[in-house]
Amino acid sequence: MKIRALFIGLVAMGLSAAAVAADPVVIKFSHVVANDTPKGKAADKFKELAEKYTKGAVKVEVYPNSTLYKDKEEMEALQLGAVQMLAPSLAKFGPLGVKEFEVFDLPYIFDNYDDLHKVTMGPVGQKLLGKLEGRGIKGLAFWDNGFKSLSANTPIKAPDDIKGKKLRVQSSKVLEEQMRALGAIPQVMAFSEVYQALQTGVVDGTENPHSNLYTQKMHEVQKHMTLTDHGYLGYAVITNKKFWDGLPAEVRGQLEQAMKESTEFANKIAREENDKALEAVRASGKTAIYKPTDAEKLAFKKALVPVHKKMESRIGAETIQSIYKDTGFDPSKL
Ligand code: LMR
Repeated sequence: MKIRALFIGLVAMGLSAAAVAADPVVIKFSHVVANDTPKGKAADKFKELAEKYTKGAVKVEVYPNSTLYKDKEEMEALQLGAVQMLAPSLAKFGPLGVKEFEVFDLPYIFDNYDDLHKVTMGPVGQKLLGKLEGRGIKGLAFWDNGFKSLSANTPIKAPDDIKGKKLRVQSSKVLEEQMRALGAIPQVMAFSEVYQALQTGVVDGTENPHSNLYTQKMHEVQKHMTLTDHGYLGYAVITNKKFWDGLPAEVRGQLEQAMKESTEFANKIAREENDKALEAVRASGKTAIYKPTDAEKLAFKKALVPVHKKMESRIGAETIQSIYKDTGFDPSKL
């Protein structure tokens, strides 16, 4: 009764009903990369569109660069409802118990963005997102980043060149196995800690799409980088399922539209952002960039593709086969 009286009072004072309507729904969107990256720019685009389409009924607060949470914490925060949206790398879903996502980490499984999109924009991708629901998470979209290069303080032309070196990886068992297949020692570490670990020599090298390497200034502490394109790094945009299902249907529809358009935006800019970052690294003169010959690339492939078979029991043969079917990848034909 009291609230109703207050409401009528405020309207009588000349405030419109809309002005005294409920506070906006706040979506805290946390991520670990810089604003000036494919993911950072897409998160900002989502904010812009979500606020526009909901006419301010939703406010999106973007927290970039691990300012709110680091990798592992952000997953926990989403499940607890402390944040509402994330876009973790596909390599970071294993610790959540959704090991199938590590299929995206298999070395050389995608030759290019077209192959990747056959999966992320098709039924296999949808099925993978559906697997998150049992964890209280709703998968909304896949956002592209790009293909990874290897970096270290010594030149890398052959798999043996990183033998015995400590290489930072994301929290994916497939990536750990990948480094072992090269004779390197994998070190799992949060993204926010990589620059310092490289600078102080805690690790010798790492792997990244160029946009991540450049915006975290890793090129200042890595003398060599090789364009191996040995694996893909991209994202799943996820939300807390209870939060999402609890939104008014109209608002959810508006947010879905904002997500659809920001996904198109993300996937449009990813390649050019990575190309630009590579040129910026080159221009800095701090890191020597090496493009392997076809024969050198084949040596990396031969060393790395056996990881597919080795990780089959973890990822599931069916998931791996469904991607081979989409892309035409055949591990026996190298
Ligand atoms: C990494 O940890 O290297 C990446 O997952 C960071 C990111 O989100 O692109």
